[in-house]
Amino acid sequence: MAKDTLRLDKALCHNFDVPRTYAAKLIKAGLVEVDGEVLTDPATKISINAQIVLDGNETNASDGFKKRVFMLNKPSGYVCADRDNNNPIVINIFSDIPKFTSMHCVGRLDIDTTGLILVTDDGDLNHKVTSPKMEVTKTYRATTKNKLVEKDIELFKKGLKHPEEKTRYKGALLEIIGDHEALVTVTEGRFHEVKRLFECVGNEVLELQRLYIGQLELDPQLDEGEYIQLDDPSLELVFKPYEKYTQTFNS
Ligand code: URA
Repeated sequence: MAKDTLRLDKALCHNFDVPRTYAAKLIKAGLVEVDGEVLTDPATKISINAQIVLDGNETNASDGFKKRVFMLNKPSGYVCADRDNNNPIVINIFSDIPKFTSMHCVGRLDIDTTGLILVTDDGDLNHKVTSPKMEVTKTYRATTKNKLVEKDIELFKKGLKHPEEKTRYKGALLEIIGDHEALVTVTEGRFHEVKRLFECVGNEVLELQRLYIGQLELDPQLDEGEYIQLDDPSLELVFKPYEKYTQTFNS
């Protein structure tokens, strides 16, 4: 059962992103009001629904414990890792958000891939989206070096074998939308998967952008490097497969 009370200093840490010792100092200094009353003991138990005011900023105690999910239009040049000595990391794009260091990318895009990536501090959600068992569809727009050919559609569908990989790729949906432009939908999320698939058919990916996770579409209003916070209904779309993928593989 969820606890309905918590220590005041803990609530302050989570809601105002301050270290525990600093939270205790602020409380002892009489700077924290809870439900209209100044409390000076950091160990005081408060309701998870209490209103806390610090320095004119008011929050509900529960707000600091809510999990957050963001949709980012990932720019090229950023890596999906918690640290990197040579390149900027995606998480630092969120440095204005409280406790941004507790967030992680949901899966990975290559350094030069742009487009839709989810960033969250919800470990369970992260695991669910990336688990191979869930077979969440990921749809990319690929620009290729060589002209695309119709016969590749069937090869992608059957499942390709890369000479450097032991395991065959699961079937993927290839939609040709231009001489050098295609949409590719995969469910596995293996390392460099889309680039490797094209290598299997003697082609090369020059540019890669992720457009969908499930039926959740990259918001066309987002420029590269911009993000929005997602609500629960948007997240449900993640687990609904891209429609043409279902039509192709379930027919
Ligand atoms: N497939 C790739 O090759 N690269 C990505 O970043 C994502 C999928």
